[in-house]
Amino acid sequence: MDKIALGVTSSISLYKAADIIRLLQKEGLAVRVIMTEKATNFINPRLFTSLTGERTIVNLFDEGQRPVEHIAMADDICLLLIAPATANIMAKLATGIADDFLSTFYLAVKSPVLIAPAMNQAMFLHPQTQANIKKLKDAGVEFVEPESGYLACGQTGSGRLASPEKIVQTSLRLIRRQPVFKDKLIVVTAGPTREALDPVRFLSNRSSGKMGYELAREAYQRGAEVVLISGPVELEPPAGVKIEKVISSEEMRQAVLRYYDRANAVIMTAAVSDFKFSQTGSEKIEKETLPPDLKLERTPDILEELGRLKTGQLLVGFAAETAQMKARAGQKMKKKKLDLMVANDVSRQDIGFGCDENEVYLFWPDGRERFIQKTAKRKVSQEILTEIGAMLNARK
Ligand code: C5P
Repeated sequence: MDKIALGVTSSISLYKAADIIRLLQKEGLAVRVIMTEKATNFINPRLFTSLTGERTIVNLFDEGQRPVEHIAMADDICLLLIAPATANIMAKLATGIADDFLSTFYLAVKSPVLIAPAMNQAMFLHPQTQANIKKLKDAGVEFVEPESGYLACGQTGSGRLASPEKIVQTSLRLIRRQPVFKDKLIVVTAGPTREALDPVRFLSNRSSGKMGYELAREAYQRGAEVVLISGPVELEPPAGVKIEKVISSEEMRQAVLRYYDRANAVIMTAAVSDFKFSQTGSEKIEKETLPPDLKLERTPDILEELGRLKTGQLLVGFAAETAQMKARAGQKMKKKKLDLMVANDVSRQDIGFGCDENEVYLFWPDGRERFIQKTAKRKVSQEILTEIGAMLNARK
């Protein structure tokens, strides 16, 4: 199991470290906590020992350590995360002072280092703190910038510890990033679109957006820049991903086209409505005046347009089918000039729309195909991103 060393220093926000530990563990990571001595004034190290199942380290000469623990432990971990980090620890790390376990350990680690600062706004913005942050960034240390908001000192401003979710997502990206996704822009569309009849009625479908949100999250963790263009769904966007919220198919089309020139890959997971109303009302249409035969017309096929405009972008489509899946998916792949088609059977209740699991077939234009049997959408998204990574690699 991959292990993270979590440095906890004496910012009042250190109680949030417990949430960070829980979220990291949920992602299958082991955590070993190192506290500064001052941090133990706020929280007893036994709390973190209980949460992690491993003795929390505070001092260089604690009992029960391996002979040169800070060196031995440096080989065990895939990331050193310091959250929350005070101005003091950053000043020490920036100048190489090594007078306790955490600052000594920092000099020994070879894995990536991620710092999440938290302090009063004046302290954070002080030129000395900013100079230390710059020095650490120049040395390759990564940062999760603090947020603006209510601070423990009673003031409002910048310096609040970033959310545990954001800290964990950034940590995962540092552990899981792959060279092929570096500097790549991946556009993911997700969810349904809504085609309005009037301000209160619309035509839509049952897409939940889960598959697209998982793909966006996974692409971000692998190191890509990700834009998630989402129809109306009930999901929280993954931290680190740029979200563009849209309602109608035309809005989705325009948003995708805005990023298309710069995109290396577009993954069209969205269940774009195929039809819209020919006539719409800007005010609610009274039922007495509503014609019984509402006329529909086709919406623009975004993927087909992307296929026509393609200049090297990798295009991935999703086909939600209820019958003749292979034949239909194959035809659509050709018509839309796709590089990969993911097809699933939406007539089944246990997979696809709204479910947490999916079972899909992948089809390539050269006739290759692959079956991914029923598993969590997160796992399916990992398999799809592995295939996309291989395709991007082959293009280099
Ligand atoms: O033809 P069909 O709608 O089954 O194709 C599905 C694929 O095409 C999906 O990737 C979907 O996002 C995309 N699509 C689109 N514009 C539409 C309809 C579907 O881009 N109007």
